Amino acid sequence: MPGGSISGEVRVPGDKSMSHRSIMLGALAQGDTHVSGFLEGDDALATVAAFRQMGVKIDGPHDGKITIHGVGMKGLQAPDGELDLGNSGTSIRLLAGLLAGQSFDSTLTGDESLRSRPMARVLTPLALMGADVEGDKPPVTIHGGRPLSGIHYDLPMASAQVKSCVLLAGLYAEGITSVTEPAPTRDHTERMLRGFGYQVSKKDDVIFLQGGAALNAADIDIPADISSAAFFMVAASISPGSDLILTHVGVNPTRTGVINILRLMGADISLQNEREVGGEPVADVRVRYAPLKGIEIPVDQVPLAIDEMPVLFVAAACASGRTTLHGAEELRVKESDRIAAMAEGLTTLGIRTQVLDDGIVIEGGVLGGGTISTYHDHRIAMAFAVAGLRAEEEIRILDCDHVATSFPAFDALARGLGLQITVQED
Ligand code: S3P
Repeated sequence: MPGGSISGEVRVPGDKSMSHRSIMLGALAQGDTHVSGFLEGDDALATVAAFRQMGVKIDGPHDGKITIHGVGMKGLQAPDGELDLGNSGTSIRLLAGLLAGQSFDSTLTGDESLRSRPMARVLTPLALMGADVEGDKPPVTIHGGRPLSGIHYDLPMASAQVKSCVLLAGLYAEGITSVTEPAPTRDHTERMLRGFGYQVSKKDDVIFLQGGAALNAADIDIPADISSAAFFMVAASISPGSDLILTHVGVNPTRTGVINILRLMGADISLQNEREVGGEPVADVRVRYAPLKGIEIPVDQVPLAIDEMPVLFVAAACASGRTTLHGAEELRVKESDRIAAMAEGLTTLGIRTQVLDDGIVIEGGVLGGGTISTYHDHRIAMAFAVAGLRAEEEIRILDCDHVATSFPAFDALARGLGLQITVQED
């Protein structure tokens, strides 16, 4: 329903990227890994299910706590069938790297959205390392028992999933595996590997590790996901009278593009109580309403805000003037084509947009109402829920089932903070 403002103090669910990695590294470690703040969303649970299928005992999650009884680098067992990673690109891309180093064959698949997403970006470097892999899109098959050799891989796109896949395969490779990226991307894999006692180095722009060492179990405290917090950062920024505190948010500099971009647009965001938790920077984030203005989004911020673009487009629609985005072609291969899906929805609400191959131009304006297709993409659904704060009429958002992949109970939390939102079951 139209209107409202946002206030209160809230901790949004745990970081999705770190939740996946905690299961993967915990499973391969020696000893028990205790995780708190784990995201109990469908994507992270798909990773849990995959490792259970490979014989790893995992207790939980209960209240964000999960214990992984590590089986060691060579302890995974052949799964009894296909590994179904649901909607999760991170699970399938990272697992492909780990599975290339196993002695058994595996087949990875997912839901309709995941089955349409590119896998060549990870299978190409894996093949260069000596892996035997098949399939451009899921399902993909990885034949085990092939010796891997370390390579240097110069990533053709800024992708933390590709970087992580190569590094994880590198754990099983002979010699040194190294990567360079066209622009920095989230570095949770590197940080968490170090937290598990595995040496990962960086010299100039090259990230490298030596294969064959072991991981030691570590306790992990996962902060709140800045990608989930981002919906409320924009919500508070666009609705007059808002004053919100998001607690214990992960503010790793490879993830804070959304804060940098909103500040450039004029947002009033301050970081309080900055601290480091388990090798990751964390802060409480205070956001107060401030009038936003359109900007040219700096291209170097794009990989640092790649998952936050849908809701940043809503901020742009509520800003005065024009916002231009370039260098964001990766948005076209996310859970949906996010440039096309957002442009369509914003047009429905009466906002003028111009779609570019690698981005979009958005003219700030007055948001009306209408019916939005989400293409089953969680972040499209949540972005348009936030738009309701500034809409003049009701917005009806279809197919919101996938919100649970990253942000279970988004609607209840949003309602508690001031969004007027109701969910209708089919
Ligand atoms: C992720 C990397 C990003 C991001 C995704 C999570 C990760 O994908 O969009 O939600 O955890 O490594 P790309 O590597 O495809 O950019």
